[in-house]
Order: sequence, then C-alpha cells, then structure tokens
Amino acid sequence: MKLWEGRFDAPTAADADAFNESLSFDKKLWRADITASVAHATMLGKCGIISDEESAAICEGLKGIYADIEAGKLAVEGQEDIHSFVENELVARIGQVGKKLHTARSRNDQVATDFRLYARASADRAIEALKAIISALLARAKETVKYIMPGFTHLRKAQPVNCAQYFNAYSEMFLRDLDRFSALRKRMNVMPLGSAALAGTSYPIDREVTREMLGFDSISQNSLDAVSDRDFVAEYLFCASLAMAHLSRLCEDTILYTSDEFGYWVIPDAYSTGSSIMPQKKNPDIPELVRGKTGRVYGHLMAILTTIKGIPLAYNKDLQEDKEPFFDAETTLESCLAIYTALVSQLSFNVNAMYEAAGEGYATATDVADYLAKRGVPFRDAHAITGKLVRYCIEHGKTLPSLTLEEFRAASPVFEEDVLTAVTTRASAEGRNSVGGSSTEAAKAGIASIRKRLKQY
Ligand code: ARG
Repeated sequence: MKLWEGRFDAPTAADADAFNESLSFDKKLWRADITASVAHATMLGKCGIISDEESAAICEGLKGIYADIEAGKLAVEGQEDIHSFVENELVARIGQVGKKLHTARSRNDQVATDFRLYARASADRAIEALKAIISALLARAKETVKYIMPGFTHLRKAQPVNCAQYFNAYSEMFLRDLDRFSALRKRMNVMPLGSAALAGTSYPIDREVTREMLGFDSISQNSLDAVSDRDFVAEYLFCASLAMAHLSRLCEDTILYTSDEFGYWVIPDAYSTGSSIMPQKKNPDIPELVRGKTGRVYGHLMAILTTIKGIPLAYNKDLQEDKEPFFDAETTLESCLAIYTALVSQLSFNVNAMYEAAGEGYATATDVADYLAKRGVPFRDAHAITGKLVRYCIEHGKTLPSLTLEEFRAASPVFEEDVLTAVTTRASAEGRNSVGGSSTEAAKAGIASIRKRLKQY
C-alpha cells in the first residue's frame, strides 16, 4: 500500500512505480529506519501525543520487525521505499495503532535522519579502516628503517631516502584522511528529526528525547535546511575521494617498484595474478584495480555535487539520488583499504637492489654541492662545480662515489679526503637529519610521531 494514495483516483502506472521506487537500494537503511522510528514513537508517548500503551505497542512491533529482518525471516521487498515497508509491515502486525507512528513526522525528516545515522556508521568504519592501514604502514616502517631506497622527483632518481620515511609519507596522508573523516563525523551528527515535511510541526514534540536516544550531538536549527541538507553526503564522498587518491598513489608506486625494471619490492604471490597466455607473468592486478576504482569514487562525488546544485528549498525528489553513489563509494573505499592493508603487510624487499639503485643517477650530487657550501663556497657556485663533476662522470663512465680525490680536486681545491665518504649513498641519507628527513634517526622520530597522533582517534 502507498502511504499517500488517498488523494488519487487512479493507481500509478507500473513503469512510474518502477521508476520512482527506492526500496531496491534504500533497504540498506532498514536498521537506521527502525531505530529512528522506535525513538520517534517513544518520544510521541513521552510527550503525550499518543498514549503510553500505543507507544509501547508500536515499539514492540518495530523491534519484532527488526529481529525478523536480522534473522532473515522477513524479506525487505514489495513497497515504494524502506519507510513505506516498515510502516506497512507494522500495521500488518499490530493493526490500526501502527498507523499512529507517522504522527508529527514526514518521510522528509525521516530519510534525512536515517541517512545520517547510516552515514555516521560508515564514517566510523572508514576511520577504523584508515587506522588499520596506518598500523600496517607503521609496522613496515619499523621493519625497514635500516633500508635505503631511491627517492624520486619527476620519476627520476633524486636523492636516497630511508624506506621507513617512505612508508611514513603514506601514513601522514592517511592520518589527514582520518582527521577529515572524524571532523565530518562530528559535523554530520546533527539530528533533522522533528523538522517534519519542511516547516516543523504543531505537535508538542520534544526533540531532545529523540536526540538523546539516537546519539546525535545536537538538533538541527532550521527545518527547511534540515530536510534538504545533503552536505554530509558530499563531504563523505570528498573524504573518500581523497583517501582513494592517496591509496592510488601507493598503488602506482607498488606497480612501479615491483616491476622488473625497478625491482625494489616483491609483491606477494597471494596478491598477484597471472596471464592466460604468457606463462611468465605475475601481474599487479590488485593495485591496478584499486587505482582504477578511484575513478568511480570521484565520479560519485561529482554526481552528488551536481545533484544538489540548483535544488530549490526544501525537499525535492532529486535527493533520492544521494544514496546509490554513497553506497557504492563506501563499499569501494572499505574494500580497497582492507585489501591494501593486507597487501602492504606482505610486501617483501630487495634490500641490496634498493640500496644500489639509490646510489645510481648521481643521486648524491646534492651532497657534493652541500659539502662545498658547508666549506664556504656559495651554494650557487657549489651547484655549478658539482654539475661539471656530474658531466665529467657521464663523459668518463664514472659514478660520484668512484671518483678519486684528484678528480674532485681538479673541479675545486676545497675538496679534501673526507669527500670520499660524504658521497656514499648511506652517508647521503643519514646526513639529512632535519625533522621529517631521511636519516634513520629522523625516520624513527617520524614513526613515534605518527604512532602518537594515531592514538588520538
Ligand atoms: N525515497 C525518498 C528519498 O530517498 C524518501 C523521501 C520521500 N519524500 C517525499 N516527499 N516523496 O528521498
């Protein structure tokens, strides 16, 4: 039965029904819908809007529906939306009194409340998933703090870096995501229930009762805004998009670093796939898929931003389009974070290959320039002298660490014996002891700092 059919002479066309319905996807809100209805019915009783007996009967009926859906005994189907489903089922179970549930309420404030309850739990799960990936990255950082790997800019070897510092960089990104999701959780935890269709209600409701029962921090202060505000959906999708962007960068690094061409890391067999034709192949399908799925999450963000643009106050049916993008994004984000937490935990490292590669490409040239600058040569001149030395190496097929003191001194008399140890790969990384830098000490401090900040969530 439709909740609104009284006004109509003829039934809706079958294709209009099919087009309009939302139960096929908003059934995901069933827990939130019943929980919010129990709170609403309790409040109606407490405020004397319905009798205590009526309130008790409604709550009992609702709890029975909840238990039956949970147990798989009741299929959620056959109605326009989740709100119609629950109300009709209630009336079928407890009779006429069930029809009092919707007093002082509209589906407009109902769906806004249900969705916030649902999205709040989604934000909590995103927070847990982010904590898990940061913990996995921290574990890898701890194990690899002795290792040196090439650091890149423009995808050209730039300077040697500490492996732990590399993993810490991703932890920093995910910590910001964590912070964004917890800020979003706070901002969204405002209750629209009690706004009714758009203008509030003339019944003597007490919104504090429902707020308290549903665990909201506060109640909305404008009914027109409350029924049509979907900022929290857009914000969730933005937070999810940025987390996916970070994950996608980690995927790209994984794909590159585990390739034969780079050969720094080894992707676990358990998280690789083969080719149906090329027997030798070990493909990074998981990182590629995660990288690819980033696109659909961005797409969902664009969809909601476009949907809410230009909607006149207050509720319009356009807003039903808020749910599917959200549901797909949360599933995508959670599955990608989970699979990558597992994959990162099982990466192994070609320690020597990483170290050797870190010294290639004249990656310690900055250290040569710094050597001169620290001994009084203006940095710009030191840069030019070192540039000439690099050219000399290229022409003579040499590396900076393989140059003799004579060759260094031919470029500048400032060079002394100790330049020969200053240009090694390890000395280069260890020398960068600034906060957040590539020395072992700085990387260890990075781990401790991340661990401390993680505890705050
Ligand atoms: N399925 C609707 C939605 O998701 C529920 C609210 C319906 N309200 C209305 N006035 N038709 O937005």
